[in-house]
Amino acid sequence: MRGNAEPSVAGADDAPAVEFTGVGRHYPGGVRALDGVDLRVERGEMAAIVGPSGSGKSTMLNLVGTLDAPTEGAVRVFGHDVGSLGDDQLSALRARSIGFVFQQFHLAPNVRALDNVAEGLLYSGVPLRVRRARAAEALERVGLADRAGHRPHELSGGQKQRVAIARAVVGAPALLLADEPTGALDTVSGAAVLEVLDELHRGGVTVIVITHDRELADGLPRRVEMRDGRIVSDSGPPAAGTAGGGGPSPVPVAVVGPAAGSGEVAR
Ligand SMILES: Nc1ncnc2c1ncn2[C@@H]1O[C@H](COP(=O)(O)OP(=O)(O)OP(=O)(O)O)[C@@H](O)[C@H]1O
Ligand SMILES: [Mg+2]
Repeated sequence: MRGNAEPSVAGADDAPAVEFTGVGRHYPGGVRALDGVDLRVERGEMAAIVGPSGSGKSTMLNLVGTLDAPTEGAVRVFGHDVGSLGDDQLSALRARSIGFVFQQFHLAPNVRALDNVAEGLLYSGVPLRVRRARAAEALERVGLADRAGHRPHELSGGQKQRVAIARAVVGAPALLLADEPTGALDTVSGAAVLEVLDELHRGGVTVIVITHDRELADGLPRRVEMRDGRIVSDSGPPAAGTAGGGGPSPVPVAVVGPAAGSGEVAR
């Protein structure tokens, strides 16, 4: 490993995207939101996390996203032991490697789609002009090039979620985490959002998505089922050697644009 070096997208090159070892997340009063969870997600996988309300799905995703720390066990993301990283290193790991999408979009009101997406690069050190160029590229990826000037209230729910996805992936993270991304959408908009996630997955991004939608989950390559803070079933990676869903490469690649500092967006 890299000692004190800043975490990079690559981490340990052969490490899985996510590795939980005996992970618990306990709260005062005896609540065990997670309890003894072991999980390994390879780079390039697309997995659904399912389970009843309160079963620990969001808790698990927040730990994967390094937004929360375990009270027991170890969480590794691209080989980095999250518990051993300082705040700056965690921020760097998140900014470079992890994108988040939530049920309620969390777009800035009265800010046009282009700038909402560009915000995803705010802490990247990239100048505004380049941030906007990459944001335009990301919007094109989610099929919203013609809505770049629209503000959130001028977009449908499904479009808002696609803007949120564009913002999450504008920095070309290797790992995309989505907590009920279709929960606030009708079936058709939800399917369009899923299609975008699937396309990112096919481009090499590791995608983990929480969903209550049985049908949606059944369509994904892997399903991890939670109950009472534990994994009660896991269909596992599709098959050895096909973690990328049969796509060209299980290695994370830049889906939206080149890495920071490598010039203008490719097109
Ligand atoms: N900050 C907290 N303090 C105490 N208990 C908490 C806290 N956050 C979550 N919990 C508890 O942990 C358990 C798991 O919560 P979590 O949010 O992970 O569930 P979930 O599976 O995402 O549910 P939902 O489908 O409703 O979103 C719940 O019983 C919840 O009450
Ligand atoms: Mg939840």
